[in-house]
Amino acid sequence: MSKSFSLESIVRPNILSLIPYRCARDDYDIGILLDANENSFGSVLQDNESLLVEDLHRYPDPNQVLIKERLVSFRGLQSIDYFFLGVGSDEIIDLVIRIFCVPGKDKIIITPPTYGMYSVCANINDVQIIKVNLDVEDGKFQLKPDRISNALSENPSTKIVFLCSPGNPTGTCLSHTDIKAVLDDPNLKGVVVIDEAYIDFTEETKKASVAKWVEEYPNLIVMHTLSKSFGLAGIRLGICIANPKIIRLMNNTKAPYNINSLTSHVALDALSLQNIEKMRETVRKIRVEHTKLMSSITNITGIGKILGSNDANFILVQVLDEACEKPSNKRAQWVYKELAEHLGIVVRYRGSELGCEGCLRITVGNPQENEILLENLKQLLEGTSTKSI
Ligand SMILES: Cc1ncc(COP(=O)(O)O)c(C=O)c1O
Repeated sequence: MSKSFSLESIVRPNILSLIPYRCARDDYDIGILLDANENSFGSVLQDNESLLVEDLHRYPDPNQVLIKERLVSFRGLQSIDYFFLGVGSDEIIDLVIRIFCVPGKDKIIITPPTYGMYSVCANINDVQIIKVNLDVEDGKFQLKPDRISNALSENPSTKIVFLCSPGNPTGTCLSHTDIKAVLDDPNLKGVVVIDEAYIDFTEETKKASVAKWVEEYPNLIVMHTLSKSFGLAGIRLGICIANPKIIRLMNNTKAPYNINSLTSHVALDALSLQNIEKMRETVRKIRVEHTKLMSSITNITGIGKILGSNDANFILVQVLDEACEKPSNKRAQWVYKELAEHLGIVVRYRGSELGCEGCLRITVGNPQENEILLENLKQLLEGTSTKSI
């Protein structure tokens, strides 16, 4: 780890000295609760049969202890003090930027092609973005730690390095050696955020998550989410794993009851041992479909290579020009529009991302969806099939 790391010296001074909002519920949460001006007669939904609407007249637990306890055993960390929960990873990204970066002064590093929200949140917060591209040759999509080191040295006010593993849109896990090189870089004064939104889709043999590293690295923040492998994008629950000192700052800065009761009820259920096993079972099914989709799609004339190492639940695939010689943004855009506007299939055009010439990013669907997608792609590119939806 970088010997020069000092949390106190990189946090915005106003955040460091912040006196957090405290509710009585932080201290006492059982008994006759007359502390928070809730509606003591209950909610308008209280006669509804669903268990979900019970206790909705009460504010939720500000600390979400029960969910964190399940996460401790699921992710193998030492205690709940290593966890913060956000309204999706997207809230966590914004919060981390607000905690560390002084608007108009500090910077973040991103490694294109990468997830778009790091830049969006940086721009909203008036934080400058330094881009250090991934090595995109042959769809490798790996870090260039030397370049990151140079960028850190040239930009000493860099507070955060955002890395995405498996990457979006690359679907590729970053090398652990390279991640370590960044964390240990003597030029790094700030923190490294590793966004592992898709980590559960990665083969276990790769031992891909670096979540446990937070016990060793006080400058590491890892993000997970229930939106992908658990299939719960609608409840908006993001998970941040970091040294308890960083977690404390996040708790101090968040809105008091950021995780609502409906979300917390569903998340707690999702993180039972039984449902974690269900998640793993679904991931196995998605992997089978992933492999089938890859082999079928590359048999279609007009489809080029699949880029990256396919560690997530999507593929990044090239559409070729009409001569089938090289990837073509024009044709990829045409396919994208035809699929969406005439065939009711929405994929993501990624051709303007670095190293993704002619690429579409396609989520692995269920077996029927994949079949329909393949039929329609074949029809569009080869003019041979008749099936549509
Ligand atoms: C890499 C990455 N991080 C984070 C997110 C957002 O996650 P959440 O739904 O938890 O906000 C996404 C969503 O597509 C993503 O691709």
